[in-house]
Amino acid sequence: MPNEGSYEVALRRSQQIQADLEVHPEAYTMLTGDRPTGRLHLGHYFGTLVERVRLQEKGIKTNIIVADYQVITDRDTTEHIADNVYNMVIDYLACGIDPAKTMIFTHSAVPALNQLMLPFLSLVSEAELQRNRTVKAEQEASGHALTGLLLTYPVHQACDILFCKGNIVPVGRDQLPHIEQTRQIARRFNERYGKVFPTVDGLLTSTPLLPGLDGRKMSKSYGNAIAISMTDAETAKLIKKSKSDSERNITFDPENRPEVSGLLMTAGICTGRDPEEIAAEIGMGGAGQLKRYVTEAVNGYFAPIRERRQELAKDMDYIKDVLHDGNARANAIAEQTLDEVRTAMGMKY
Ligand code: TRP
Repeated sequence: MPNEGSYEVALRRSQQIQADLEVHPEAYTMLTGDRPTGRLHLGHYFGTLVERVRLQEKGIKTNIIVADYQVITDRDTTEHIADNVYNMVIDYLACGIDPAKTMIFTHSAVPALNQLMLPFLSLVSEAELQRNRTVKAEQEASGHALTGLLLTYPVHQACDILFCKGNIVPVGRDQLPHIEQTRQIARRFNERYGKVFPTVDGLLTSTPLLPGLDGRKMSKSYGNAIAISMTDAETAKLIKKSKSDSERNITFDPENRPEVSGLLMTAGICTGRDPEEIAAEIGMGGAGQLKRYVTEAVNGYFAPIRERRQELAKDMDYIKDVLHDGNARANAIAEQTLDEVRTAMGMKY
């Protein structure tokens, strides 16, 4: 990844914030979110959901956006969108997000958030938009045209973060260019019109990225991702048909044996054990035994979460209430911020 320097800086800054959070939780507002394109999987769970719950329990203001307008950045349909949104809310709650503490809402229900897009777009140049390497990578991976919305969605993400004056954003490394764009937008707005927005920092996790079952990046489109919402049987089936290699003896070697190592890391994170130790224990037991171990580890860990999930799914009225309540709260905050923005810009008539 280019720009290692800025990664190092972001990592150090993020460690300082982690320490300060313990002392001054009230100084922080978290905003993060997900694109509702399908079910959340183990990568989301260990990569960010656990961290969100941890921040929620510290008394930091926590906000989660279900980024429904981001779905159409690189696809031509909103098929299944409502189903995906509701299931995302169910996943959050099952994993420990508490709607009494964390505001959960969607883009499309908060007009004032979206209106920030107009002044914000005036603060970036086309060249800056074109330079964002995550957008470039996403466009290439999608095989879709570079839509105006895909090109400008990092600016829209700045609206997501800044409408509630978020100052910490737990993200993966790929989102760092977006955080940089958000900082720049906030700085330029404040310079031009007076201080309205805070300085934003990404909160990087020190836990290594969990690869998919085949050792590649975990992604639904690769068929290597275990969804939180899968049943035990679906989980077993997916693990069973995942690739291994021809060597019987199980060893942990992410470089040369990505498939076997992906399985070992999954088992390791679910059991809290060291993948090397699991490998040594299985040894000549081979891939069959390893896969049985991984299946038990995943299904064991997620049993209580999946049980809660099933209970929650029985009461869709409650799930809708959670979202309606979050949307109402988000609207009140967004209208207040938009009011400050229009005042700062002299657009109060
Ligand atoms: N782009 C993010 C993702 O795909 C989701 C997202 C939308 C987001 N708005 C955000 C993340 C604001 C952080 C802050 O994961």
